[in-house]
Amino acid sequence: MKNILCIGAGYVGGPTMAVIAKNCPEYRVTVVDINAEKIAAWNSDNLPIYEPGLDDVVHCVRDRNLFFSTEVDRHIGESDIIFVSVNTPTKTFGQGAGKAADLQYWEKTARQILRNANSSKIVVEKSTLPVRTAHAMERILNSNDRGLHFDVISNPEFLAEGSAIRDLEEPDRVLVGGRETTSGQQAIQAIVDIYAHWVPQERIITTNLWSSELSKLVANAFLAQRISSINAIANLCEQTGANVEEVAHAIGTDSRIGSRFLRAGVGFGGSCFKKDILNLVYLCEYYGLPEVAAYWEQVVTMNEYQQANFVSKMISAMFNTVAGKRIALFGLAFKAHTSDTRESPGLAVCRRLLAEHADVVLSDPRALNNARLDLGSISDKVHYETDPYRAAEGAHAIAILTEWPQFAELDYQAIFNAMEKPAFIFDGRNILNHQALYEIGFNVFPVGRPSFTNFPG
Ligand code: UDX
Ligand code: UDX
Repeated sequence: MKNILCIGAGYVGGPTMAVIAKNCPEYRVTVVDINAEKIAAWNSDNLPIYEPGLDDVVHCVRDRNLFFSTEVDRHIGESDIIFVSVNTPTKTFGQGAGKAADLQYWEKTARQILRNANSSKIVVEKSTLPVRTAHAMERILNSNDRGLHFDVISNPEFLAEGSAIRDLEEPDRVLVGGRETTSGQQAIQAIVDIYAHWVPQERIITTNLWSSELSKLVANAFLAQRISSINAIANLCEQTGANVEEVAHAIGTDSRIGSRFLRAGVGFGGSCFKKDILNLVYLCEYYGLPEVAAYWEQVVTMNEYQQANFVSKMISAMFNTVAGKRIALFGLAFKAHTSDTRESPGLAVCRRLLAEHADVVLSDPRALNNARLDLGSISDKVHYETDPYRAAEGAHAIAILTEWPQFAELDYQAIFNAMEKPAFIFDGRNILNHQALYEIGFNVFPVGRPSFTNFPG
């Protein structure tokens, strides 16, 4: 039996290893993390993350060939293949602050692997890393005089939160990058062999190390760029009477463009897009390509504008002041079907409204705990209400900030009746029936589509 270890039991490591364990019963898969609370949660009925289908997979394989543990050192010693999935946040200090990836956890983990290894191993980069990180990792790992050899492989994860299990079970592709040496090629094959248990061979792409590392950054940059592109056009639609959904449909039916990732809204969130684009920007600057860096940085600038402009539109519609007004924000998760609030547009809007002295109420089916944690020192300045009807009671406005389908199914007549008048709805995800809301009496402000107001004149 081969031993697989994953260091980092987060949104990436946990689900990925659960699916590997399920599909590869002859591998023993262990996930370790320095966070004991998180490991305890992975071993309980209350998993630390919400992801549709995850509970079932974990239940079926936990304690069979999937184990969660805090004993990092011991498990390093016992493993053949080590996936590293520790976080690589944006650096907040020193050179590259605000853009470059902070690789300290990665390097620390590499040194820990080296200290505890007593045989040669394959080390797999699962975390998103700047291109050429593997070079540094190889140097650190192979700097030993114990005759141990480490092959570093890049195997980036393309799962999206909320659909992680489906993305892992039926990936568009799996990418495995490695060295062109004999042992590099053998290491690639060892990783391919894992995925070949359930992924068709033609969907497993092998490349050199640098292409694999860079492809992850580029995939996220391209996806985010589409969102910023459609959001840029949404602003023009609002000025011209065009409807961004019609434009997105019209261009998306061109098979060269494709229809996905063209939903205009309050901007993208999540732990990856902004971080990875800034990482790409930093790399371009580092390699002396300022024009290329500026080109990609604009994707993030546009996203920040989209969030700021959404709040400006709210304020301007509400007679240029929201101070003291109760405003209900529906949706703090950065997207539907997750409890994750990292870089969530909902929290960005919340912070801006607090700066305007609004009385903010947050409502979300899954993400209120994380929202409270993320708000930190200002968390007691807002109210939390799981029930959206109660959140809207006495509110001047509702803003939809996550595309949770349940928000489209609420009884808006009842909500309207309980709100202050005039009542406003700002649909930051374009998921509501705007005409029906207008007929109820709301003033409705979608993104990139005509607004409906019930004011005479
Ligand atoms: C993160 C990044 O966001 C992503 O870009 C990268 O590709 C993989 O890591 P995610 O799984 O979402 O993805 O992060 P997170 O949920 O924060 O999990 C990382 C885990 O690593 C945490 O549980 C943390 O406790 C653990 N960790 C971190 C260690 O076990 N050891 C360390 O030294 C540092
Ligand atoms: C993303 C990538 O999709 C995934 O491949 C990578 O591994 C990690 O980063 P994730 O951040 O989990 O995944 O979710 P994603 O579905 O990409 O959504 C990101 C953000 O973009 C969300 O805030 C979402 O609401 C927003 N979005 C998405 C739009 O605003 N419009 C769209 O058309 C699509």
